Amino acid sequence: MDHFLYRDGVLHAEDVRVSDIAAAVGTPFYVYSTATLTRHFTLFDEALGGMDHLICFAMKSNSNLAVLKLMGELGAGIDVVSMGEYLKAKAAGLPGDRIVFSGVGKTREEMRVALEGGIRQFNVESEPELEALNAVAMSLGVKAPIALRVNPDVDAKTHAKIATGKSENKFGIPIATCRDVYRRAGQMEGIDVVGIDVHIGSQLTQLEPFELAFTKVAELTELLRADGHDIRRLDLGGGLGIPYERSNEAPPLPVEYGEVIRKTVGHLGCEIEIEPGRLISGNAGILVSSVIYLKHGEGRDFLIVDAAMNDLVRPSMYDAHHDIVPVIEPLAGAEQAPLDIVGPVCETGDTFAKARDMPPLREDDLVAFRSAGAYGAVMASEYNSRPLIPEVLVHGDQFAVIRARPTYDEMINRDTIPVWL
Ligand code: LLP
Repeated sequence: MDHFLYRDGVLHAEDVRVSDIAAAVGTPFYVYSTATLTRHFTLFDEALGGMDHLICFAMKSNSNLAVLKLMGELGAGIDVVSMGEYLKAKAAGLPGDRIVFSGVGKTREEMRVALEGGIRQFNVESEPELEALNAVAMSLGVKAPIALRVNPDVDAKTHAKIATGKSENKFGIPIATCRDVYRRAGQMEGIDVVGIDVHIGSQLTQLEPFELAFTKVAELTELLRADGHDIRRLDLGGGLGIPYERSNEAPPLPVEYGEVIRKTVGHLGCEIEIEPGRLISGNAGILVSSVIYLKHGEGRDFLIVDAAMNDLVRPSMYDAHHDIVPVIEPLAGAEQAPLDIVGPVCETGDTFAKARDMPPLREDDLVAFRSAGAYGAVMASEYNSRPLIPEVLVHGDQFAVIRARPTYDEMINRDTIPVWL
């Protein structure tokens, strides 16, 4: 459930008319709902109730400082994957001991900054990375808390570009050989082994792959403890999917996911970490856009909107579906006709939907792309020299611009022309 509902014939974000935000900030823009972000965080928190746990919001899904600040105030930790994310999490007020550093290619510089600034744990993905971290920690005279990210060779049954838990993927250390790496880690002066990490992919719509992976992690926990490691923390990653197509998708609920965690690893007495991104931020955001033109083509009609693939890349990158709805509620029984919904960018790939049944729309009408709060703004670019679009946060009947639209001058003046030209 989210807080983007029609009221008095107009789509609202909580208690604010989306059309009022459009009038104030211009289209296109992203808008997020505080109540929905809070609700989704709370669902996970309740799902893990009774177990010692920390929900580390995967900020790669939405890294606006205001969203991070909200997460921090709710008691979340943050899962970061780069120095930029680490510094943003700190800037949002997150203490280092609530920040987990994931990622397959952490540099020594990133390790140093996180060790100096405070870190809960590094999720280490390879032996070379372990050695590098050991060296950096020793040079600073500290011990780096680590979990090894194990690759459980489980098929997440999701889009190939976002599956991470198969042996052919670049992620993690094969679960079969990780005991050796743990043994080496246990002997390193700059390393403190605290746990195990696993993340098998994103937008998972079934629980079975989680269950298989977590069961393997539970077995590994016993083995590693028998080997003498003090495994006290299990990071089970993110990945729980959301319904993008509301009419026919019903992925498992956080409470059911929590049950799988309880059943598979609950008996081990470990502190549980999870790293959800999409389920917290995805349906907490929409992208609002205006119709520029309706174009009649041969055998098909195009709705050309002012948002494009540079603002929301998921449809062109993953063939992802986003529900698209008019901001003014269509009249009951309004006739629907199939439209190709496209942006202005000069690529055929700049297509949001093909032959999508839509109610009548005219130039300047507003449309909203649902489920755009995760992997929307964060993946945006300025392709075609289209400035990044603003982000707005709603809270009850208030709204605030939480990232302003840059001016054309700001965009142009970021480039510099060398002296010889
Ligand atoms: N933890 C790790 C180590 C991850 O790699 C990811 C996502 C997450 C947590 C959060 O997963 P979530 O709960 O959001 O599924 N851009 C793609 C999604 C890429 C996900 C990458 N890793 C998309 O738009 O679908």
